[in-house]
Amino acid sequence: MDILEIMKKRHSVRSYTDKKIDEDVKKELMEIIDECNNEGHMHIQLCTDEPKAFDSFMAHYGKFSNVKNYIAIVGKKEDKLQEKGGYYGEKIVLKAAELGLNTCWVAMTYSKSKAMIKVEKGEKLICVIALGYGENQGVSHKSKSIEELSKVNGEMPDWFKKGMEAAMLAPTAMNQQKFLISLEGNKVRAKALTAFYSKLDLGIVKCHFELGAGRDGWEWIE
Ligand SMILES: Cc1cc2nc3c(=O)[nH]c(=O)nc-3n(C[C@H](O)[C@H](O)[C@H](O)COP(=O)(O)O)c2cc1C
Repeated sequence: MDILEIMKKRHSVRSYTDKKIDEDVKKELMEIIDECNNEGHMHIQLCTDEPKAFDSFMAHYGKFSNVKNYIAIVGKKEDKLQEKGGYYGEKIVLKAAELGLNTCWVAMTYSKSKAMIKVEKGEKLICVIALGYGENQGVSHKSKSIEELSKVNGEMPDWFKKGMEAAMLAPTAMNQQKFLISLEGNKVRAKALTAFYSKLDLGIVKCHFELGAGRDGWEWIE
């Protein structure tokens, strides 16, 4: 399936069935997690068949039910950890969608002691992603317009438009879409506006933009 189709079919799902994640699906997930950890020097972990740990996280997020699997986004404390966590986490979310799984990003305050998540010295757990076979497939989110979310002087190139189409399908905390993507020459600047979790959101949005636009002929302004 084409990546844009996968993005279109991915929606946040908060209720899950009891179906266990197939072993071969788990293996493919582990492969992409390993790739992300190697490339980004992250410590992202897959936790399966662990209803207790998620229960304790979920105490104050009543909307979730029967979450037994999750991905823990852990990495070394550094300025860009939120953005990196969003970027690599979303790569895994899209792979999960391709594999027929449902997901939901969950920002949280957490209790490390209860979790099977390993957070080494100097690392931080920034977020988890609920994972499994959904009771439903979720619904499409409302999006701000391309004019609100981007800035281009003159005509918008086709690749940029494709990048924006993908960026608009990205999940953001509370669907806030607090980002602005601007074209400056053949470089692209992605900016997080002031809001909770907007840096994490930015990484997610950049992941989508890159996949939509393709990686050739332009680069990010860091
Ligand atoms: C960083 C981040 C944190 C989120 N935290 C929560 C959460 O704590 N509880 C929740 O129900 N949904 C959470 N979400 C899911 C968003 O509400 C959801 O992505 C957004 O409404 C867009 O919907 P969609 O994912 O179906 O496209 C979070 C999403 C992101 C990206």
